[in-house]
Amino acid sequence: MKILGINASPKGSKSQTLKLVRAVLDGAKANGCKVELVDICKLNIEYCNACSVCYKKGKCAKKDDFQAIYGKIMASSGLVMGSPNYFKSVTAQMKTVIDRMADAIHCQLLTGKYSVNVATAGGLGQYMQVTDYLDEIMLNFGSFITGSIGVSIRSGPRALGKAEEKAYRLGELLAADMRTGKIYRNQKRRHEENRKYFQNLVKMYKDEWVHEYKYWDKKGWQ
Ligand SMILES: Cc1cc2nc3c(=O)[nH]c(=O)nc-3n(C[C@H](O)[C@H](O)[C@H](O)COP(=O)(O)O)c2cc1C
Repeated sequence: MKILGINASPKGSKSQTLKLVRAVLDGAKANGCKVELVDICKLNIEYCNACSVCYKKGKCAKKDDFQAIYGKIMASSGLVMGSPNYFKSVTAQMKTVIDRMADAIHCQLLTGKYSVNVATAGGLGQYMQVTDYLDEIMLNFGSFITGSIGVSIRSGPRALGKAEEKAYRLGELLAADMRTGKIYRNQKRRHEENRKYFQNLVKMYKDEWVHEYKYWDKKGWQ
């Protein structure tokens, strides 16, 4: 029952997004989960350069802080992804981590995990641009989405307080999903479609993407 929380705001302890990520983790912790929070803006994570080494060998060729964070992601059953809205999307730091997980989509590496996605934004309702994006990415990596939560900072401190309460309850739900292995039927259908699609893709590139071909071969083709 391990959960990793990731905050991608460069504002450190002053981040509003951090408050929501923490609240989710607190709710999960009170329900028996072991939680860890990582500020990815403090890490040295280079851009993906599309070298395809991860497809071929199952490991990124770059030597930086990404390896450790990827290890923590893979060792967790629950993930809390938090980012402020920066021009209708996640911050560059979050996007960089996502890009470096290019093999996670081909091999559906987050299968069996659950995630809660968190965002804040300056403008009214705009946090959804980020939570919708993160929901889609995490689903496409194979994870179930327990839920998402966000708030507009313009709505004031009361709205933030309410969002923190909701975030705490989402943390409780995340712990419950992990404990019971909840199946979200619509999401499962998307996972099945993705699995077929990416397995076909990997078969097409079997001579180049040697690791990924072996991975699916071992896991079993559908
Ligand atoms: C570079 C930059 C771009 C931003 N773009 C948007 C935006 O497109 N829409 C929006 O609603 N807020 C935008 N904001 C505001 C942040 O999303 C908002 O202040 C957020 O709550 C910051 O979260 P944090 O305190 O966790 O860093 C932007 C802020 C910055 C610094």
